[in-house]
Amino acid sequence: MKAPGVCSSRNTLGEPKGSLSVTQKSAAIYRKYHGDKADERLGLFEGLVERYGVDRVLYPGSFVHITPSFVIAEAVYVDSDKRAAAFFADPGTVAFVRERRAYDSEPIIRFHHQDFATPIPEPDASFDLLISQYAGFVSRDCKRYLRVGGYLVANNSHGDASMARFDPDFELVAVYRRYSERFTFSSQELDTYMIPRSGMEPDRMRLEREMRGPAFSRSVAGYVFVHNA
Ligand SMILES: C[S@@+](CC[C@H](N)C(=O)[O-])C[C@H]1O[C@@H](n2cnc3c(N)ncnc32)[C@H](O)[C@@H]1O
Repeated sequence: MKAPGVCSSRNTLGEPKGSLSVTQKSAAIYRKYHGDKADERLGLFEGLVERYGVDRVLYPGSFVHITPSFVIAEAVYVDSDKRAAAFFADPGTVAFVRERRAYDSEPIIRFHHQDFATPIPEPDASFDLLISQYAGFVSRDCKRYLRVGGYLVANNSHGDASMARFDPDFELVAVYRRYSERFTFSSQELDTYMIPRSGMEPDRMRLEREMRGPAFSRSVAGYVFVHNA
């Protein structure tokens, strides 16, 4: 019996009989890290596009989390991990995105294999959305690529939402909650969020050293900031 996902003849890219097609390889890697773990976070990016109308997104520390490309036609990913570099170099990755995309145009995907704290070969102030998810201080290191009026979406697992809070160029405009793969946004009572449970304001040097956000009195999955200057 043919194993699921295994080709029985050469595919259009001329790969040998019995191998996974490049599209299937990319899909399998994505499934391993996101689909099978119910951690695609598609609803997060759908919500951001609906609320803020995003055309170009920058995702430093993405690893293989290519979900934004399902709803945003132009995306730039950055990661220092060589498995991410292999994933993005595989022509199957763009083919996989083509199958999942919710828009008509051809996906535009670029990947930079590097430390995101070093200059990224992308123009300053050219992105509508900067994504920071479990990857360190993206808001600090990559703010220059976000246009004024663009948005930063950050969680606080590595303290990046707290880091953005220290930065007067970022203003909190929404929080989001997560119910498995469903996400809801709120812009009500924003001054009641990001209040440390300990009552002590976080210290920036300690945040940089520990790379861990403090526990807040109201717990949410993440935060959206607008880039004001
Ligand atoms: C825990 S994974 C999170 C992946 C993805 N953001 C997600 O939410 O599924 C963190 C990723 O960030 C990358 N990373 C962390 N710091 C980085 C840096 N300074 N430059 C480039 N990549 C970085 C790591 O290589 C890793 O792939």
